[in-house]
Amino acid sequence: MNVADALYQRISIRAFLDTPIDEQAVRGLLDKARWSPSGGNLQPWKVFVVSGEEKAAVSALAGGVLGKNPGGEAGDYPIYPQSLEEPYRSRRFKVGEDMYEKLGIPRDDKAARFARLAENYNFFGAPVGLFFVIDRCMGHGQWAHLGMFMQSLALVAEEEGYGTCMQEAWGMVRESLGKHFGIPDNEVVYCGMALGVPDRRHPVNSLRSERAPVDEFATFKGF
Ligand SMILES: Cc1cc2nc3c(=O)[nH]c(=O)nc-3n(C[C@H](O)[C@H](O)[C@H](O)COP(=O)(O)O)c2cc1C
Repeated sequence: MNVADALYQRISIRAFLDTPIDEQAVRGLLDKARWSPSGGNLQPWKVFVVSGEEKAAVSALAGGVLGKNPGGEAGDYPIYPQSLEEPYRSRRFKVGEDMYEKLGIPRDDKAARFARLAENYNFFGAPVGLFFVIDRCMGHGQWAHLGMFMQSLALVAEEEGYGTCMQEAWGMVRESLGKHFGIPDNEVVYCGMALGVPDRRHPVNSLRSERAPVDEFATFKGF
């Protein structure tokens, strides 16, 4: 698979088969992804990989926290800016509506939408969950580099026939996750990721999200 194919083929997978993935396979993916670039070669990433009982434990943890406080513990690192301006606001709305349309869940069925959202904390049925951790001393640059690492991981996973969904939703419980994993106060869980074999027959996985054309975001000068 070439890079462009992997890039285009990768979509967020939100329903997985229960086909297990062993530790060696995940190690292999991380071994490839570690060649991602980072400014100054800081490699500002740490990863927790969970499966089996450990995965069930973090799902239970999220269920417990969000059951009591549906707003979560987002705290110092909100998932989105408080006021999301255009065009970002419309893009976010559109992809959400497109997803619920694939699932046949109407706007007024709040319970079904909420239940679907809660599937995040079950890793959408994936056998493996990953959590990406960064040192709190790192700035916006290093957070971007962690993002490159995550993208690399998603692409090598794609090449090997797996699917992924990056999951900022886990940011809602980052405080509890930090305690659960025993990470020091100077580190923080940024994001989760579901990893597994995609259930290609599930309608949610037929969602192809849109992208703005090049002329909308690129300015060319001096050509
Ligand atoms: C860092 C990051 C975090 C994300 N968090 C979530 C999430 O918590 N739950 C979810 O269903 N999708 C999540 N997504 C998926 C995005 O909604 C998705 O990437 C976007 O709509 C584009 O669709 P595509 O990935 O299918 O191309 C996340 C994506 C990224 C890059």
